[in-house]
Amino acid sequence: MLLSTATYLLLPAAVLAAPAPVTDISSRGLAIREAEGVGLANTNARVDCFIVNSGGPVNCRKGPGLSYPVRTTFDEGTTHTFSCYDTGSCIEENCSWDYAVNWGCYVNGFYTDDTCTTENLGHC
Ligand SMILES: *[C@@H]1O[C@H](CO)[C@@H](O)[C@H](O)[C@H]1NC(C)=O
Repeated sequence: MLLSTATYLLLPAAVLAAPAPVTDISSRGLAIREAEGVGLANTNARVDCFIVNSGGPVNCRKGPGLSYPVRTTFDEGTTHTFSCYDTGSCIEENCSWDYAVNWGCYVNGFYTDDTCTTENLGHC
């Protein structure tokens, strides 16, 4: 009898409990892959990545390749928000270009840290 009383008391709490927020990057990556699976293009990821490997400013270009004009430059060690990747010319065998959504330009994946994986970003 005590057990069933406890069950009645706890049931409303369980129903009212809010679902855990999904905030970690890997869960977001999974959600992105699922969205791609039903044919939705991903442009909504928000992944903050550091500029690495450059030893100086990195060009952020108006398109995903070296032939596109430079919109701005990012200093090594600064962080920027990227929302998707596209493919283009390769730098050090990396042919991915990560889209810096707040600037409207692309940085080659060789110059973004390991958080900016193609999996976390999703294709533009
Ligand atoms: C190239 O960059 C992308 C995006 O930043 C990353 O996911 C990928 O691992 C990199 N590939 C290589 C070969 O470094």
